Amino acid sequence: MFKLNDNYLKLPGSYLFSTIGKKVSAYSAAHPDKRIIRLGIGDVTQPLAPAIIQALHRAVDEMGKAETFRGYAPDLGYEFLRSAMAENDYKAKGCDISADEIFVSDGAKCDSGNIQEIFSLDNRIAVCDPVYPVYVDSNVMAGRTGTYDPSTEMWSDVIYMPCTAANNFAPQIPKETPDLIYLCFPNNPTGATVTKAQLQEWVDYANKVGAVIIYDAAYEAYISEPDVPHSIYECEGARTCAIELRSFSKNAGFTGVRLGCTVVPKDLKCGDTALHGLWARRHGTKYNGAPYIVQRAGEAVYSEEGKAQLKEQVAYYMKNASYIYKGLKEAGFTVSGGVNAPYIWLKTPDGMTSWEFFDYLLENANVVGTPGSGFGPSGEGYFRLTAFGSYENTVEAVDRIKAMKL
Ligand SMILES: Cc1ncc(COP(=O)(O)O)c(C=O)c1O
Repeated sequence: MFKLNDNYLKLPGSYLFSTIGKKVSAYSAAHPDKRIIRLGIGDVTQPLAPAIIQALHRAVDEMGKAETFRGYAPDLGYEFLRSAMAENDYKAKGCDISADEIFVSDGAKCDSGNIQEIFSLDNRIAVCDPVYPVYVDSNVMAGRTGTYDPSTEMWSDVIYMPCTAANNFAPQIPKETPDLIYLCFPNNPTGATVTKAQLQEWVDYANKVGAVIIYDAAYEAYISEPDVPHSIYECEGARTCAIELRSFSKNAGFTGVRLGCTVVPKDLKCGDTALHGLWARRHGTKYNGAPYIVQRAGEAVYSEEGKAQLKEQVAYYMKNASYIYKGLKEAGFTVSGGVNAPYIWLKTPDGMTSWEFFDYLLENANVVGTPGSGFGPSGEGYFRLTAFGSYENTVEAVDRIKAMKL
């Protein structure tokens, strides 16, 4: 008789977005006249930029002709895309990363879930609290997290690094020593960032204790301040301790197109074994590459027109972020994020729990956001709004919130 991977049975239900969906449907059914504005989900809404659409069309045409048809992609991804990334994302920012250290994939979610496979089950992981849930859940599936305590919503073998107002939502080096450290800046859900000096402390620490940092840079395109690093490889010594995840979802609107990459520097070793070789083995065995047409679309992100169009697209969302940030501050909320990230993190008023505020906002402003407690216990008492809506909806939502009686 077959047996299951019991680790899957340990996963607590992921109620966050399904509970939100149910509450919103129930409210809509009871109040069909109300227009609900959704500033909850982290998905983009603007169409793909013209330079990307043109590249997609060209690549589709190539696939229709025998002389330009392409089958399986090379294991690491096409050289044209990896070179464009090495040049623009790394060399141009003073980072020493070469094209053959970049593994093209279909997005950062899969990679952030899969990367733990190349590490021993004995490794202790450290995560920020609140956190993008994939880092924890993928380690639960692997059996690395111990037992779950529903009263604290914590796993016995995970090191949680609280990110609270007291530390400006930036984690502090934990007391226990982790083996794998998940960091994501700009952060989902808090929108917080760290300075280059702060990130350098993490790199120095990881090198000192022999830990690996898994650095998720999915939101780097939203950085507007000069002292905030776009890549962990801007820090000295990161080549021997850091893996970086990149995504085309938020900088170029590829959430439905799917493209990303993982960077594994060749200097990152456990004893004599380079992690690059292990990830190459895993990638080559379990993954058959992002589609050619999508990789061509990714290349267009780095063309002159592509860069200009995407700068505008990011600016469009950041105008929303700024409107939300300023509007909520004027209304007396305690707000953070929104300056280097498309997420605004606000403290719920009058000591409401995150879910109480969710209901209050839905009923009184017909606006949907995301309860901070859904991202981890330290998110309780907080709430996330996203800048990914249309400008018109964002303005209306903020004006409704301002008009709300608290
Ligand atoms: C921190 C973080 N990493 C990764 C992802 C997913 O990226 P992708 O669309 O490339 O899979 C998200 C999506 O919301 C995210 O918030």
